[in-house]
Amino acid sequence: MATNKRKILLLPGDGIGPEVVGETKKVIDWFNKKKSMDFKIDQDLIGGASIDKHGKPITDEVFYKAQDSDAIIFGACGGPKYDNLEFSKKPERGLMKLRKELKLFANLRPAICFKELVDSSSLKPELVSGLDILIVRELTGGIYFGEPRGIKPIENGERKGINTHVYTTKEIKRIAKVAFELAAKRKNKVTSCEKSNVMEAGILWKEEVQALKDKEYKKIELNHMFADNCAMQLLRNPKQFDVILSDNLFGDILSDEAAMLTGSLGLLPSASLGEKDKNGRTRSLYEPVHGSAPDIAGKNISNPIATILSFSMALKYSLGLEKESGLLNKAVEKTLEDGLRTPDIMSKGKKKVSTSDMGDAIISNLN
Ligand code: IPM
Ligand code: MG
Repeated sequence: MATNKRKILLLPGDGIGPEVVGETKKVIDWFNKKKSMDFKIDQDLIGGASIDKHGKPITDEVFYKAQDSDAIIFGACGGPKYDNLEFSKKPERGLMKLRKELKLFANLRPAICFKELVDSSSLKPELVSGLDILIVRELTGGIYFGEPRGIKPIENGERKGINTHVYTTKEIKRIAKVAFELAAKRKNKVTSCEKSNVMEAGILWKEEVQALKDKEYKKIELNHMFADNCAMQLLRNPKQFDVILSDNLFGDILSDEAAMLTGSLGLLPSASLGEKDKNGRTRSLYEPVHGSAPDIAGKNISNPIATILSFSMALKYSLGLEKESGLLNKAVEKTLEDGLRTPDIMSKGKKKVSTSDMGDAIISNLN
């Protein structure tokens, strides 16, 4: 079944990252043992963990390993300890370097409400049951990376903070194409979000997305929505959406919001995919949508499901193992059906379990 060794690099990072990636490693080991895969697992430091040891958020060595791997499983980065560091030395810069330099421009964030968890959502069950949204977020452009940027002194001893929101035709088309292609395999519906009422880059975004649709994706139903309206509509009637297409910053915000509709930020996986290189290979990084959650780190109470489902996305998108990905999703669903809950999704009558219990239960359901 397995072809030649595929390299998986684990970058647990900070906060709850090591716990949730630790449970995911157990799952990868299970696939090696029980499904005769020969995933070659390596693990290294990123973010604060790398700063503590090497004085920088990612070393060249780790970057080259990342470049050379078939899939990266990333945990989380950052924490209060690093709040006062100079910007270029912050833990998050490690992740930004990977996204930018591996050209991981397409960030897929599915928000799916598990049947078992409709009651964990802050919205009424009828609004979220059966919810299945895919957010396609542009990940290597926009205000996260635009120049000029910085903090500069101005007159009167005051300072000025500058960031630039910028997109080119090529960047917009590249991500819109991903959204259209994915929508074609779903409900053929894309909602593109921008603020074309106040931003020129938003006008360009809207025009280029529409032009691409008119030219190449006639069958797709495309709607344009202001990003603030989209935030509101996600709470009012989330099931109106199929694929949501957005830039880097709006996508960051809308995906946290969509995640919470499903009950917990602890459930949402994501995939960051690059363009094919000259050898036909696509770089990819998989990470939970949640952050490092320093307040609960080290307590064995975090929810490993988002990271385990991120590995499931890796099986599907990077390792060519769609069936195995389905198997893993089923094992997660079954574990929730069995009533097991980490504290973030706990509800009356269910069994409260730890991070490692949840991982073990998923593995026993794989068996
Ligand atoms: C995310 C995170 C990151 C982002 C942080 C950790 C830099 O919030 O992946 O959504 O803003 O992109
Ligand atoms: Mg975010």
